[in-house]
Amino acid sequence: MLYPKDVAEYRYQDIVVKPMSLLLGAEVDNVDLKANLTDLQEIEILQALHQYKVCFFRGQNISARRQVELVKIFSDKLGITSDSEQKKKSSKDGIFVHPFLPQKKGQENIWPVGSSVGYATTGRPLRSVSDKSVDSPRVDRGTGSWLRPPYSGTSANVWHADNTFLREPSSFTILQAKRLPEFGGDTCFADMGQAYADLSAEVKMKLRGLRVVHDWRQAFPYFKRTCTLDEYRSLEKLYPPVLHPVVRKHPVTGQNVLYVNRAFSTRLENGDRNMFNFLADKASVPEYQIRFKWQNVGDIAMWDNRVLQHYAVNDYIGEQRLMEHTASLGEKPIFGN
Ligand SMILES: [Fe+2]
Repeated sequence: MLYPKDVAEYRYQDIVVKPMSLLLGAEVDNVDLKANLTDLQEIEILQALHQYKVCFFRGQNISARRQVELVKIFSDKLGITSDSEQKKKSSKDGIFVHPFLPQKKGQENIWPVGSSVGYATTGRPLRSVSDKSVDSPRVDRGTGSWLRPPYSGTSANVWHADNTFLREPSSFTILQAKRLPEFGGDTCFADMGQAYADLSAEVKMKLRGLRVVHDWRQAFPYFKRTCTLDEYRSLEKLYPPVLHPVVRKHPVTGQNVLYVNRAFSTRLENGDRNMFNFLADKASVPEYQIRFKWQNVGDIAMWDNRVLQHYAVNDYIGEQRLMEHTASLGEKPIFGN
């Protein structure tokens, strides 16, 4: 059985949950995220998050302040706190602050993803990797199309979970659409719990106790060109490569999750490149995926970053797409099996 019984049997009274597939993705209705949520609504939203791994809320149009507040509310409910040195250094008010990406002006817990036209930021500038003076990411894309123009330094069209280069990667993410192209710009999600469940017994045995290196420098090498060498060295010191379990146990559902992604994972501890590629490509299997079509500005996705990977499809050439991204702090991944 994939889940502990209680997760599969969650029922909802105060919110309406409309599943998009058997195990992955649900639209959540009958909730206004702008208004104060009842305790039961908060609990049920988290239930839906754990049951379906990503929840979508249409046309919410919440303020930046409210978006941050919601991350805090759900973090508190999950007992996530800034209880480590690294978390203290990469957070404000108990919510993750991205150490490399530019921040929304006036709200440092939010970072923009996508178009920078007319968008006020502080921190490091958005840089285009099509600028020949800047290093390209060294990511092995697997089946993705990272290099498809126009490439923006914050494009996310590679399968990844957010911030897995941290010792305690973000537990969940809340993303709101601010600017959408007429067509395209969907976000795909892949269930890495199901990806693990479908591995053969032989492969599962090989993965027991195995760790994988995660390193931000693979995805963000261009920061060498937007900061001084001293700043770069201090970032390397603050965020050294980390070793996470290849199979992570979800702290709430107990589910085993395949925890290797193309953006930040660089190699298996045992150096097995073939196995690394085999595992890293699992996110691109359609049976593990759903595809979310953003309809309107103000649509929100909230995903469980401990079990999913996601991919922002770069098929809106010449048009603008802008998302505002917030993430929680998280917990140190522990071994599954
Ligand atoms: Fe992401």
